[in-house]
Amino acid sequence: MRKKVIAGNWKMNKLPNEAMEFITELEPLVKNTENEVVVCVPYTDLFYALNMAQDTNIKIGAQNMNAEEKGAYTGEVSGEMLKAIGVEYVILGHSERRAYYSETDESVNKKLKKALSLSLKPIVCVGESLEQRESGSAKEIVTTQTRLALDGLSNDDVKSTIIAYEPIWAIGTGKTATKEDANETIKWIREEILKLYGNDVADSVIIQYGGSVKSSNANELFTMSDIDGGLVGGASLKADEFSKIVNYK
Ligand code: 13P
Repeated sequence: MRKKVIAGNWKMNKLPNEAMEFITELEPLVKNTENEVVVCVPYTDLFYALNMAQDTNIKIGAQNMNAEEKGAYTGEVSGEMLKAIGVEYVILGHSERRAYYSETDESVNKKLKKALSLSLKPIVCVGESLEQRESGSAKEIVTTQTRLALDGLSNDDVKSTIIAYEPIWAIGTGKTATKEDANETIKWIREEILKLYGNDVADSVIIQYGGSVKSSNANELFTMSDIDGGLVGGASLKADEFSKIVNYK
């Protein structure tokens, strides 16, 4: 049985005091869940969120990292830096980073290898645009993104990687993929992994859905056969709403 992983992606939201308040409010609401609870916060909130989440079941993640260890990369943060302060998860290749900050399949692959070498748990995002969905190329897009992200990884590394299927047209739009479409697309990703890495890996790799997940649709999405939880944007900003998503059943 694959574990459900429910991760919040705050994007560029919340000051440190708001982050601390959020963790304090969330903690009693999710302490009895069997699901993995992750909150991916801005760099400047990491230290505060980590402190508040100590001795709780809430895991803290970053939203990006650089693939290099150190050096002349002004404004960047390395995986080693995240690891050193106790960060457990890192989102890689979010579509906003691909669209606004020139993230490519190649850079995602490099970052992924680095994250895995540091035992950071990566959440790698893939997903098609509306145009690609409507022209019938969604399958080709998500399987190619998956293949290129995972290129050169060992079976164990793929097993340690979480994939988030996030159709771009569903992000922040209030338009959720139907549970059938989301499940079918995630099956395409799982089949691609099966072709490349075999049954054992395909069966154990966690694949989330992301894109306008909220408490009112979490249950129908997360109870589908291949959807192993979610990556939640807007609805992860309020502790009460996010806790309902975590406790979707
Ligand atoms: P929303 O849940 O706000 O649509 O964002 C999804 C997302 O991008 C999570 O990474």
